[in-house]
Amino acid sequence: MTMKRKFFSGLALALALFTISGCNAEEPVNITPSSKKILIAVFSYTGNTRQAAQAIQRKTGGTLIEIEPETPYSQDYQAVVKQGKEEVDSGFLPKLKTKAANIRDYDVIFVGSPIWWYTIAPPVASFLHDHDLSGKTVVPFFTHGGYGIGHSLKDIRKYAPGAVLAGEFELDRDSLKEMDARITKWLKEIGVGQMTGNKQTSLIRTTDSIQDIVNHPAFRDFGRRLLPWDDDRNYDVPLDQVATLLPYHSNVKPAEAAASLNRLIGDANAGKTVFYDIYTEQEKTAVPAKRNTGLFFYRGKPGAPFAVVNPGGGFAYVGSFHEGFPYAAEISRKGYNAFMLKYRTGSGQYAVEDLAAALKFIFQNADELGVGTKHYSLWGSSAGARMAAFIGSSGLFPKPAAVVMAYTGQSEFTRNDPPTFSVVGSEDRIASPATVEHRAQEMKHAGIDVEFRLYRNVGHGFGSGRGTGAEGWIGEAVKFWEKHIL
Ligand SMILES: Cc1cc2nc3c(=O)[nH]c(=O)nc-3n(C[C@H](O)[C@H](O)[C@H](O)COP(=O)(O)O)c2cc1C
Repeated sequence: MTMKRKFFSGLALALALFTISGCNAEEPVNITPSSKKILIAVFSYTGNTRQAAQAIQRKTGGTLIEIEPETPYSQDYQAVVKQGKEEVDSGFLPKLKTKAANIRDYDVIFVGSPIWWYTIAPPVASFLHDHDLSGKTVVPFFTHGGYGIGHSLKDIRKYAPGAVLAGEFELDRDSLKEMDARITKWLKEIGVGQMTGNKQTSLIRTTDSIQDIVNHPAFRDFGRRLLPWDDDRNYDVPLDQVATLLPYHSNVKPAEAAASLNRLIGDANAGKTVFYDIYTEQEKTAVPAKRNTGLFFYRGKPGAPFAVVNPGGGFAYVGSFHEGFPYAAEISRKGYNAFMLKYRTGSGQYAVEDLAAALKFIFQNADELGVGTKHYSLWGSSAGARMAAFIGSSGLFPKPAAVVMAYTGQSEFTRNDPPTFSVVGSEDRIASPATVEHRAQEMKHAGIDVEFRLYRNVGHGFGSGRGTGAEGWIGEAVKFWEKHIL
């Protein structure tokens, strides 16, 4: 009880701090151009990847361009195998014949490459290097001889650091003959539906308005609950300006939000349920605000442990687009089941009640959901981290394998706190880095496994941290969680 009181008085203090200094955390908004086209860029030496690109072109109506090195490769295959190895090993970037002039007009860029020595072919590396793809959704596709895609994704990230990678696809020598059917299935899964001319009708783009997202057919009946708010006041705002509506957040990446929403659309198109109510009709009738809650589900491997992601927003809004869907999408890409909780705002107590209801729902329906209940983890950012820590140590549920906390100034903990991964930016003016570090040290002294990360030159509410010193922290947090999945 004392703990609870402390928690909620801590909340009151935090809310006061949010109000005073919340806007300091804001950073310039990145606005992408208002076009809706798909580009397919491909390099191919023996024709396989070109064939895949042509199929994608037919099915999406996008624009197809060839990536051509200024000096063509010889027709002697064995000589090219040898040359390819030398080029890959030395990181050589061949000069290309042309540069795509209007790449800024495209939202989604499919990039096709044969695998050469466990990575992308050098002309594709040159293409990524020569064009500014920041903020774009890059969808890589590969063909190879059967040895997998190696470190291609890592290298694509290296050459196109600002791009958001989504929905990669590969065909090996044996599956080439099923190319057409496989590409159709894949495009459906990643939410690239039928095209009208060159306009993509089912993929969410950063230029779409909040209302377009709410009304998307894949989100019928629960679209409003995707939003940080519970009403329609921001319906006209395009996704690429959503940062202006999230005052406690920085480094907001509209393309990340779009990619993670498109992942949900892909699952919904494939017939999977992506949203669950956590309250019964009776409960919602008794407390109408409970109609604003629910769980979004990003599936991992069947039976794998689950994570519940609680975005922040000072209990004034739920930063779903920034600290919710993108985290859940990334966690599920690593094979785990991930839920994003839309909770009630207005008070920390409502939010915590909703997290408890969500966990009860998951535990009760674990078989149907296909999630493992052992070794689950609770994730939260800012206000959401308080929720995760509170429920994680409450004893109301089996103890989580890990709690992941991003930038919250909570100083209290109990001896019952689970292993904790804690991150904060050195320039955080809302959650004091010193307080976060002190808590981590005290917990360690109490014998709790804690990993603490301080990122230089990063402020409050950095989300995935992409493009900042905090980039990659979600992967690190997953590794910490894995250490406790025994
Ligand atoms: C230089 C070179 C290196 C290759 N390295 C690999 C490899 O590491 N792993 C693999 O599975 N296939 C490898 N292959 C086979 C190609 O990836 C495969 O045949 C691919 O489908 C060719 O695509 P393309 O017809 O579009 O050129 C290599 C081929 C070449 C020419």
